[in-house]
Amino acid sequence: MTESDMNLENWWQPFTNVRGFRANPRLIERAEGCFLYTADGRDVLDITAGLWCANLGHSRKEVADAVHKQLMDMDFCPPFQFGSPVTFRFAEKLVEYAPKGLNRVFFTNSGSESVETAMKIAHRYQLARGKASKTRFISRERGYHGINIGGTSLQGIPNNRKGFPTLDNVDFLPDLLDIPNNAFSRGLPENGVDKLDALEKIIATRGAENICALIIEPIVGAGGMVPPPKGYLERARQVCDDNDILLIFDEVVTGYGRTGSAFAAVEFGVTPDLMTTAKAINGGTVPMGGVFIKEEIQQTIFDAAPTGMPEIFHGNTYAGSPVAAAAGLAAFEIYEREGLLTRASGPIGQYWEDALHSLRDIPHIIDIRNYGLLGAITFAPNAAKYPTGVGVPVHNKCFENGLLCRAVADNMVMSPPLTISEAEIDLFIERLRQSIADVLG
Ligand SMILES: Cc1ncc(COP(=O)(O)O)c(C=O)c1O
Repeated sequence: MTESDMNLENWWQPFTNVRGFRANPRLIERAEGCFLYTADGRDVLDITAGLWCANLGHSRKEVADAVHKQLMDMDFCPPFQFGSPVTFRFAEKLVEYAPKGLNRVFFTNSGSESVETAMKIAHRYQLARGKASKTRFISRERGYHGINIGGTSLQGIPNNRKGFPTLDNVDFLPDLLDIPNNAFSRGLPENGVDKLDALEKIIATRGAENICALIIEPIVGAGGMVPPPKGYLERARQVCDDNDILLIFDEVVTGYGRTGSAFAAVEFGVTPDLMTTAKAINGGTVPMGGVFIKEEIQQTIFDAAPTGMPEIFHGNTYAGSPVAAAAGLAAFEIYEREGLLTRASGPIGQYWEDALHSLRDIPHIIDIRNYGLLGAITFAPNAAKYPTGVGVPVHNKCFENGLLCRAVADNMVMSPPLTISEAEIDLFIERLRQSIADVLG
């Protein structure tokens, strides 16, 4: 079957201009290493690791073999009142790499479910210790926290929020992207820690006794890849401590080696109380997420729960799926053997940074940002010609030219597989440069 005779009507794809897709379908049939292969046989360099998830590169045989074996040994084990050994082993493995003290893992199937789970656990913890009025959340403009109603309410990206019913207990910190003051920063930018003054103002207005948790991505991902200013995360931790507010890091993007450490919390030496993850937890192979929780939070909830009852009435059918966990254990064997969880902090991270910043001579580019194996460029806006942002036409041209990049309004964001080579980074720069020239001249 070819693209022209395939029925494209029945699958309503997420976050997709479906009408545009039907007119110009992009079908990807095969993936290996850092490359995708289209149905018509073209290679496409995947500079987004799928959707920030294929951190091991694509189609790793050991993960496939582990999944196959697990499916044959035991395809499913009910996680309510039962447990599979492989899932306990995987939780133990994850905790080896987690920030110190976050040694409890609640499995989910996605980043969105991890966010909802963290919100519910945070709320339940406040109740369990007699702080029932602590129900409010603080999020941040430009933040992305998934698509369920809790996460939609925390959304700092307007299109993902407007037109949906949302909770009314959320306040927002200001956006961190500050091109006039931080353009072309390498790594963490210098300016902007004062944007946290807003946190203290919100606390003063709402009252600390009414605030449950602050949730932030340590590095903004889907909103355009924005690293925090120096000192920002440390100060956020301090203000939360001073006001008895939980700090939740949403590490769905930054987890599993993206920053040069296993987690951004480890990289920056700032320990949250809860940490949401998903995506690269098993190399993006089988849907899975995991929320890391401080032991004392779990203990407080346990102590308040009636004996003989579940300590929390929450969880999914597929939570901790043995197949997803087997994929995770196999993924971690590769992460460990190939040193991928810290690779971004070594020479390849420097090569990536230099390669990205080599694009600075392109006159349409007004900012370049990077951290670990994350990157972003921002184009000068041109609303008259490109009302939905300059990124979209460049993204489309990139795909034609054999490059999968991600457009966010006037930004292009990048998060290659952690296995990427110098030669592949060179190819990325070549194809991106060409695509920008094709679109913008
Ligand atoms: C920071 C963050 N949180 C949550 C999510 C939601 O994850 P999922 O798409 O797996 O539901 C994402 C997805 O990109 C994310 O980037």
